[in-house]
Amino acid sequence: MSENREHFSSRLGFILAAAGSAVGIGNLVGFPVSATKNGGGAFLLVYALFVAFICLPVMMAEMAMGRHAQKDPLGAYKALANNDKKWKFAGFLAVLTPFMIAVFYMVITVWIFGYLSQTAFGNLDKLANPGHFDEFINSYTVFGYMALVVVIVNLILVGGVKDGIEKAAKFLMPALFVMLIILVGYVLTLDNAMAGVKYYIIPDFSKMNASVLNGALSQAFFSLSLGMGILITYASYISKKDDIVGSAKMVAITDSLVAFVAGLMVLPAIFSFDPNTDPAKLSDSSVSMIFVYLPKILLALQHDIGYFGASAVAFIFFLLVFFAAITSLVSIVEVPTATLSDRKGISRKKALGILTLSTGVLTIMCIMSFGMIDSLTTFTSYGSSNKSFFDIVYDVFYDTILPLNGLMVCLFVMYKWKKVRLSEELRQGSPNYANSFMEKYVNFSLQTFIPAILLLIFVNTVATKFFNISIFGF
Ligand code: PHE
Repeated sequence: MSENREHFSSRLGFILAAAGSAVGIGNLVGFPVSATKNGGGAFLLVYALFVAFICLPVMMAEMAMGRHAQKDPLGAYKALANNDKKWKFAGFLAVLTPFMIAVFYMVITVWIFGYLSQTAFGNLDKLANPGHFDEFINSYTVFGYMALVVVIVNLILVGGVKDGIEKAAKFLMPALFVMLIILVGYVLTLDNAMAGVKYYIIPDFSKMNASVLNGALSQAFFSLSLGMGILITYASYISKKDDIVGSAKMVAITDSLVAFVAGLMVLPAIFSFDPNTDPAKLSDSSVSMIFVYLPKILLALQHDIGYFGASAVAFIFFLLVFFAAITSLVSIVEVPTATLSDRKGISRKKALGILTLSTGVLTIMCIMSFGMIDSLTTFTSYGSSNKSFFDIVYDVFYDTILPLNGLMVCLFVMYKWKKVRLSEELRQGSPNYANSFMEKYVNFSLQTFIPAILLLIFVNTVATKFFNISIFGF
């Protein structure tokens, strides 16, 4: 069975695909803004520590599960638990979560694609109009953009692991790095650019509190694509000879580096537009930063380089974000695709067809929940405010379930599959791992404080989000 399973052609292919999943919209705008608001260098330091000491072990555990089982997440939980029914739910969640996140991520990717197309058509001035974003997301053209994004994702995924996912990552990721470097190089030459860099880098430890720490860890978890079944699935496409430990480190470093460098693009741009920007007042939401605030900044570049120049910079920016979004979207749709075709023995094409239809319906419901249809816009209410259909998908699957899935991975790997097997798996392909400090640390942390922290975050999120109760005061 596993001999027939398609594999990545090389370790680099796997690393680029996993890094492609990890590098997403969150890295490019969300991370830099949240770092600047929450202590600059102090946030960067805490984030790096979280990545190294909390996220990396979880990432290695997910990859070990996938490679050992050579199966999709549902199949992996089943096989590694020896059919113990108690773990069925964890496997089920590891597939349901990416399915639902695919829906919410698709909506944002479609908007990005819309903005990218508009800059290509020379409409940057329209994008910068106040009110344009609300108009755009409620216009029927969104469905046209959606159809195109669905076609692109399907074209990549139907090619399979080597000729689809890997090929796309090998083109999109280097292109993304080049565009990022070009933009950083340009933005750093703008007036007042250094003011932004200072805010971003100089540490202010007084901003640190429990809620900032919680936010940083959640951001790191999401950014590394943990708890989504993605790394279990991608690692099921690598061989025993491959080095999981080294690959996981590379993915974590690439993801964090892109996030860091993105700050050298976003913050100087913001401060050069308005040297008196108060970072505390910047919007927390990546969506309003990307679609409302940044187009204004991009348009203002016309005073320097003319309308055509500003449009070219905007085009490169949206293309960069689009490439980052597509590789993430592909990775998340791959999870239910692999599960359907593995479990039901159907072809990838058929699995993709079923998923396009099912996620398509939910995506359309999300798209219509920003004002097109009232019952979807005010779908329900909790935490003392009205919530749209899109809000629910976001709150439940992005904010709440991810730490729970991470918790399940830790408990499953340590207490069901057992740490000797984890070690055995990780030692294959990484001989230096045996008896290293890292091995001891991974085994100890996954057994003790990492699941404890994830449980705390999960309980706290449920209490504050859905019941308006602040149990731990953050
Ligand atoms: N790491 C991605 C990001 O930062 C998160 C993600 C991965 C989202 C895959 C969806 C799908 O945007």
